[in-house]
Amino acid sequence: MLRPLLIAPSILSADFAKLGEETRALEIAGADWIHVDVMDGHFVPNITMGPDVVKALRRTTTKILDVHLMIAPADPYLEAFAEAGADHIIVHAEAGPHLHRSLQAIRALGKKAGVSLNPSTSESAVAYVLDLVDLILVMTVNPGFGGQSFIPVIAEKIALLHRMASGRSIDIAVDGGINPETAPHVVKAGANVLVAGSAVFRGATVEAYRGNIAAIRSAALRVRGEAV
Ligand code: DX5
Ligand code: ZN
Repeated sequence: MLRPLLIAPSILSADFAKLGEETRALEIAGADWIHVDVMDGHFVPNITMGPDVVKALRRTTTKILDVHLMIAPADPYLEAFAEAGADHIIVHAEAGPHLHRSLQAIRALGKKAGVSLNPSTSESAVAYVLDLVDLILVMTVNPGFGGQSFIPVIAEKIALLHRMASGRSIDIAVDGGINPETAPHVVKAGANVLVAGSAVFRGATVEAYRGNIAAIRSAALRVRGEAV
């Protein structure tokens, strides 16, 4: 049974001077989740936003806030992001030595727990935490910046993870370089959640966002043999 195909625009590509408006625009334009990229200038070479921004975003949307923590360590901040209103909290497998403990902590806070894997990290990193995971976020670029090119070989890892997760209630999400041209490759491999930043925010109007989301969705649905 296929899991529903979802589009999760990343607000990393939004106009940060009007984040609330941008989030509402995404909602109107057909976003399923809102993906929030948190970067610390240490785990990744860029700095973005923290729990206070998530808290402000929470007031602007009822959509699922899918919070991608590109921070190390992550554990000291999990509670703050949970209190800020994150629905999903995603930690990187590479961010610390105790992934199992981090996932337990996220679940204990009543949130859905996600693990993200950098391009060079093997699928085996999640083999023994599958019981604690609601979502696997497969990086299809090196995390840190929007607008990078999709790394094609990662489709093989997606297929392996899809097999490992079969029979479980786990979403396979992809992040980085996703657009109507690359989406079919990751969906064919088994991804069901598509995070996209620059491909969604092209055009800077609600109508443009709607067209961009629809183009990614229809490219993905076509591969699944579902009605567009
Ligand atoms: C990259 C972030 C992504 C980023 C994707 O480090 O995790 O979520 O916003 O941007 P695009 O879709 O432009 O590659
Ligand atoms: Zn992300």
